[in-house]
Amino acid sequence: MNFELTEEHKAVRDAARDFAQNVLKSGVIDRDEEQRFPVEEIKQLGELGFMGMMVDPKYGGSGMDTLSYVLAIEEISKVDASTSVCLSVNNSLVCWGLEAFASEEQKQKYLVPLAKGEKIGAFCLSEPEAGSDATSQSTTAIDHGDHYILNGTKNWITNGSSASTYIVIAQTDAAAGHRGINAFIIERGMEGFIVGAKENKLGIRGSDTHTLLFNDVIVPKENRIGEDGFGFKFAMKVLAGGRIGIASQALGIAGGAFELATAYSKERKAFGKEISKHQVIAFKLADMATDIEAAKLLVYRSAVDKDMGRNYDQSGAMAKLYASKVAMEHTVEAIQIHGGYGFVKEYHVERLMRDAKITQIYEGTSEIQKIIISRNILKD
Ligand code: CAA
Repeated sequence: MNFELTEEHKAVRDAARDFAQNVLKSGVIDRDEEQRFPVEEIKQLGELGFMGMMVDPKYGGSGMDTLSYVLAIEEISKVDASTSVCLSVNNSLVCWGLEAFASEEQKQKYLVPLAKGEKIGAFCLSEPEAGSDATSQSTTAIDHGDHYILNGTKNWITNGSSASTYIVIAQTDAAAGHRGINAFIIERGMEGFIVGAKENKLGIRGSDTHTLLFNDVIVPKENRIGEDGFGFKFAMKVLAGGRIGIASQALGIAGGAFELATAYSKERKAFGKEISKHQVIAFKLADMATDIEAAKLLVYRSAVDKDMGRNYDQSGAMAKLYASKVAMEHTVEAIQIHGGYGFVKEYHVERLMRDAKITQIYEGTSEIQKIIISRNILKD
């Protein structure tokens, strides 16, 4: 077992780190405060190849592996989790889903501009009454021969107003349970498709999270992804990979808080010496470093599982469960180490704490991860 990153992996990590530190950091507090989407920054990330990292170059992507993607999300999340969630959804849920399961025509039409970063994608599963219980979709798509008529409401949609291409999960046959669900590609501008209210959130405030409304939207049949009834499995497969992205985000948030707390503890003096020289602080740093390292091993392992063609349902769920817990706990500790400074925005750690919370909720709550893990370990 070799725990060393390759030179290529290190180069991707360093490029993402440079971008985060030199481009994202200066405006991150204002974007959070003003709930402003990083329009220019996402455009630049697209030009650098970060929007379609794992997509084959023949479809406009960067042709990298999952571990490269994880390293990039981790570094960007150390500074700006609002930007990294846009990247994560575009890369994992939308581009990967299209590359793996869409038709050649769909790939040419939708995947190529998304992978090049010319357009942004969104993944629409959650509803007012269906977040964790993903089979209970009340959005319907009724078959009318050569098209479907789509009606319903989707909630908490990341990239809700910045996206142009939306993958929407809908019920086509209620009696068939999860086999009566399909996934559709919906374009911004289709008649009857309305981008609704923007959420005013605790964290990831720079990302645009919206309600979406579909009122008799005519969806051509060629916009369905895969065979009839494939939508639920499509969503499950896509989310399994997405969880690796969110686990990397959580890892980055924890790592960012740890780096800030360590640097601060070496500068700040109390009782005649740097606070890092007080064991009470040094032990906190030791605990943080150990837990972050453990989270890192889980996250990188799940990425390598995916790259090696192994099943990553369980390792991805474990990575997300653990990394999000570490992010939540240690962003709180990072504030504690900063004392009163940690409670104000200029020191970044309060934002990282607010951002950490969502990693225990989206793309499956921590409880959902435990369902996935326990089902895997208990299956015959
Ligand atoms: N890969 C392939 N197939 C899978 C699968 C996977 N990972 N997981 C389940 N399936 C299949 C099963 O094999 C089964 O198929 P068969 O009947 O043919 O055997 C079918 O799907 C149904 O599976 P379950 O009986 O396990 O389904 P369930 O209703 O018990 O639900 C669940 C399982 C894991 C709880 C699922 O509902 C789930 O993942 N829920 C959470 C959804 C979620 O993550 N929501 C977040 C919204 S997206 C988001 O947050 C994006 C964003 O904006 C950032």
